[in-house]
Amino acid sequence: MKTLFFSLLFFLFSASSFAQSTADDWWKKTTVYQIYPRSFYDTNADGIGDLEGIIQKLDYIQQLGFESIWISPFTQSPQRDFGYDISDYTAIDSVYGDTVTFKRLVEEIHRRGMHLIFDMVMNHTSDQHAWFKESSSSKDNPKADWYIWKDGRGKDGLKRPNNWRSMVGDRAWQYHPARHQFYYHGFLPFQPDLNYNNAEVKKAMFDIVRFWLDKGVDGFRLDIISAIHEDSTLKNNPPSAKLLPSDSKLTIFFQYAKNNFLQEQSFGFATELRQVINEYQSPTRVLIGESHGEESLIKNFCKKDGKDGLHGVFLFKAISEKFDARKYAKMLAGFNHEFADPLIPTLVFGNHDRTRSIDRVNSSVAKAKLKALVQLTTRGIPFVYNGEELGMPNVRIPLKEGKDAVAIANSKVPQFLADLSPETLNRDECRTPMLWSDQANAGFCDSLAQPWLPIVSTYKTINVANQLQDSTSLLNTYRKLLTLRKSIPALNSGSFTLKKDFNDKNILAYERTDGEASYLVLLNMSKKVKEIEPINGTTIFTTHSDSSTQQLQPYEGRIFQLEN
Ligand code: GLC
Repeated sequence: MKTLFFSLLFFLFSASSFAQSTADDWWKKTTVYQIYPRSFYDTNADGIGDLEGIIQKLDYIQQLGFESIWISPFTQSPQRDFGYDISDYTAIDSVYGDTVTFKRLVEEIHRRGMHLIFDMVMNHTSDQHAWFKESSSSKDNPKADWYIWKDGRGKDGLKRPNNWRSMVGDRAWQYHPARHQFYYHGFLPFQPDLNYNNAEVKKAMFDIVRFWLDKGVDGFRLDIISAIHEDSTLKNNPPSAKLLPSDSKLTIFFQYAKNNFLQEQSFGFATELRQVINEYQSPTRVLIGESHGEESLIKNFCKKDGKDGLHGVFLFKAISEKFDARKYAKMLAGFNHEFADPLIPTLVFGNHDRTRSIDRVNSSVAKAKLKALVQLTTRGIPFVYNGEELGMPNVRIPLKEGKDAVAIANSKVPQFLADLSPETLNRDECRTPMLWSDQANAGFCDSLAQPWLPIVSTYKTINVANQLQDSTSLLNTYRKLLTLRKSIPALNSGSFTLKKDFNDKNILAYERTDGEASYLVLLNMSKKVKEIEPINGTTIFTTHSDSSTQQLQPYEGRIFQLEN
């Protein structure tokens, strides 16, 4: 009898926890706002944004309608790569605040029913991290094998171990005299890669993950997760006909980075990390990975050999895709094919590394509104980079004046050549301070302070305060779309069907439906008025103020609620 009672209890308990965890899919429906903390809002007049600044702007983010926030790194760092070079994973960098402020930030985010995604840089540390200092001091210290050390080639051992290049383009091995060996860096030389074949390293990093989970973070954005493992036999990379990388293939200076990025082992790593995350429930904690590569390959991060891995990976193709209805349709078809349920695509048009989204559409606000419409109404998790909602442009900053480590690494490249590159080589250009108002320093910092990067020159017109008041602004387009997406289940979690046969090649058309209701989204991605056949439904949103039922205006996008 007693046994029966306990089995019944067990059954009830496991059934309810099962129901809870399957329902706990907030991350699939969420919308994410990316904050680059240095440039968001400065409250202590040092010209650099801080955690307190983020707290003070949470109402803004919430009122816009975002449900989650990803904050670029703010733990202790020499700031050579502005936080992506970590010297202490568990301390808050004093530039941004302290642990008390961080605790309040978590509380304030959660009080608003929002989620916090922490930027986790696991691939490498700063060369100023105590681990690296110890590891590099000799060949036989306790951390000697924590990084990827190899003997050089040639008689004197001064030739690099192989031909690999880093993501930035330089040779990926750095000589260290104390060990008379080379260490590997997938990014810049001051960011040595950790050796994840060493069980102690993995354990130390997974414990850091638990440390932040215990502090209440709801998930992680995983910095260059594509670089976490390398081919251990150090095979040379094959040549490639291409000079520069693309969003789908990592080619670096005529070399295809086959053996130092996107290794099979990295997919297995993702499944192990998922186990760590699964130790925590209510809410479900999530993992979103940063990786370049074909969707068909990088989806292995999410599911490998039947095992769950990351919840999502950034699909960077959208950033550089041409603004063209057929191209967008093909891209979305690909995303939805590769990331069919239970996987889910992500939708990204910009971040702190890439030329601003509006600069890719000739500064056209009308086109930017259509991008927002696609991002917030197709199937997937949208990530919006701070300022994108305003149509904030890049600021032109010559390579030689760059504070960005990639700009510094490229400082010898003549400016005219840098200008030919499809992507900015000086990431300062897309990281300039947020434009809050038409006041001095665009309201980003005290009028007497010196912002760490220049302010967009058109800030008197392009700023939050102005756009909040203008019902036709890009900002208000985001706000309306975010509100619709949140309140209409078909838009945040319904199925997605492209209407390939819709009457015009310049119209992107798709349907979202959840069984209860169906919505048709039409985007006229051309500068011509387009006649459309009568739609059996009601317009619930348009990017334009006046819309006729039989026509789409140039660059007009519309959502129809279809009659059942
Ligand atoms: C990622 C980050 C970038 C950083 C690099 C090295 O690509 O987004 O800002 O410089 O990794 O950590």
